[in-house]
Amino acid sequence: MAHVARFSVSMEPDLLAGLDGYCGEKGYPNRSEAVRDLVREALAARRLESGGVMVGAVTILYDHHHPGLVERLLALQHDGGVDILANTHLHLDHHNCLEVIIARGAAADVRRMADRIIALKGVAQGDVVAIAPP
Ligand code: NI
Repeated sequence: MAHVARFSVSMEPDLLAGLDGYCGEKGYPNRSEAVRDLVREALAARRLESGGVMVGAVTILYDHHHPGLVERLLALQHDGGVDILANTHLHLDHHNCLEVIIARGAAADVRRMADRIIALKGVAQGDVVAIAPP
């Protein structure tokens, strides 16, 4: 780490015990690394909530035989008002496809596109990992 500032934090014993349990479960080597990640996470969530740029990885499982589904998936990506950075498609078996769509744009727009994709009939599972670039 190039430069760090030190500060002390006071907290109730129960809260500290909770932090130590969290560090153990997640495998953090020390409290400082865990606290840094928690602060980064809170600040990233705040940037997304206030309309910042989001890079979203939309992962879906769907049956490509479902009538009209592939066309709807493509239309939502073309017309979602976001940049599609990458699209990875795996043919899992005769029916099931797993796809990861990585999109960048205003957080609300990326989430709207993701919600519409996941809500399509024929999409069996879906989730979004939201990253807020600094
Ligand atoms: Ni496929």
